Amino acid sequence: MNTQVLVVDDVATMAEQYAYDLKRVGGYHTLVAAGGDEALDILAREPVDCVVLDLEMPGVDGFEVLRRLQQRGIETPVIVYTGTGSYDRCIQAIRLGAYGFVDKAEPIERVVQEIENAVSRGRLMTEVRSLRSRFDGDTPLIGDSAAMRTLREAIARIAPIPSSVLIAGESGTGKELVARELHRRGKTGGKAPMVAVNSAALPEQLVESELFGHERGAFTGADRLRRGAFENAGSGTLFLDEIGELPLPAQAKLLRVLEERAVTRVGGDRPIAVTARIVAATNRDLEREVEAGRFRQDLYYRLNVHTLRVPPLRDRLSDIPVLVDHLLRAIAAHLGVRPKGIAPEAVSLLAACDWRKNNVRELRNCLERMMIASDAAVIGAAEVPPEIRGEDRDEGGEAAAPPGSLKALKAQAERQIVLAALDKHEWHVTRTAEALGLSDHSSLLKVMRRHSLSKGR
Ligand SMILES: Nc1ncnc2c1ncn2[C@@H]1O[C@H](COP(=O)(O)OP(=O)(O)OP(=O)(O)O)[C@@H](O)[C@H]1O
Ligand SMILES: [Mg+2]
Repeated sequence: MNTQVLVVDDVATMAEQYAYDLKRVGGYHTLVAAGGDEALDILAREPVDCVVLDLEMPGVDGFEVLRRLQQRGIETPVIVYTGTGSYDRCIQAIRLGAYGFVDKAEPIERVVQEIENAVSRGRLMTEVRSLRSRFDGDTPLIGDSAAMRTLREAIARIAPIPSSVLIAGESGTGKELVARELHRRGKTGGKAPMVAVNSAALPEQLVESELFGHERGAFTGADRLRRGAFENAGSGTLFLDEIGELPLPAQAKLLRVLEERAVTRVGGDRPIAVTARIVAATNRDLEREVEAGRFRQDLYYRLNVHTLRVPPLRDRLSDIPVLVDHLLRAIAAHLGVRPKGIAPEAVSLLAACDWRKNNVRELRNCLERMMIASDAAVIGAAEVPPEIRGEDRDEGGEAAAPPGSLKALKAQAERQIVLAALDKHEWHVTRTAEALGLSDHSSLLKVMRRHSLSKGR
């Protein structure tokens, strides 16, 4: 994809000349606008990567354009240029959200450099935002092992069916992610609400009012009507997490609701139809709980019309390299720091651990600790905590490259070649990409990210 730059100037010859030079020197695709209004129109329509904006224009001037971009939440980076050389005006533009400024008299190379910086920062910000949103509940199920493929197929099959689903799996295996995926792929396509209730955290006296709601004045302290989780879930999904922890009396009440497909608010007399799909999750062996008399058998059969088993991480160690990659980015986005790379030797060590305690959550926590402990841009094997380096460190890790292997050596060579080319071209991304015969500079940025290469390192 070619970088697209919009040049805004009321003096047509000036705008054309600039556009021509930017195309020639930076290799950009260029657009031209003769005023603020036209620029805003184009920005609303076209995928522009960077704007070069004149400040002095009749009518809607550069400052006004910046203000309106801010109001509309458009985050395309803007570089202002000015012929008056007034520093104060440039500062004012920066305050209004401009990325940088250049003087009309400056060589075009400098402008191209400025655009490169602005564009790569803009792209990084988009990426961080998308990762952050993924992490906040939108995370896809990562992994392509046979076990994960089977799980994904089962989810796709069951999602459109309205019957109850029981999700079983050890702690930290991703049961909640599976529930969200079921919801997203459900009949309402994730548009209806998903309400999650942590059964373990429900105080016994409040179970009924939390799940079924209460009428005003139903009991002391009930000064307002309150809808329960069943009602709030509407025609979406009610996720009953840690269902194995639900006390027996509450199990009886839940069973009645599932049988009657209706709830009655505490203190109320009108049954309200339940339309939500019920998804329950547990890390306990419910059959054993039933045998031990801690879980009602009839409720168990109501809930497990379909059962999804989420495999423990040790049964899909081949997913570890992709999971590590995904989690490192997610953690960086979460902490608001630059993502770090990880040495293949470190990944091999991680892929040899059995993660019996807490599965993917344990891996995530371990990576977060490693990321913080390491000062380098690439997390090394030395950062892997001793409890993770098992005796069996030489097994597993087929997808990661052990030191000295062809794969590891190739990665090392690639890094050195790219670094040398960047240095030679003074970290000019477009030119370096060209020199290396890459299709465009975003492929180079990808390689740079993989090797955690950024200026100053
Ligand atoms: N396949 C996966 N792909 C990406 N992230 C995952 C995957 N599985 C788990 N995670 C991440 O691991 C963490 C734990 O997942 P989740 O909360 O869904 O586990 P859980 O089975 O509900 O755990 P618990 O039993 O402790 O409630 C989350 O941060 C989640 O995003
Ligand atoms: Mg959970």
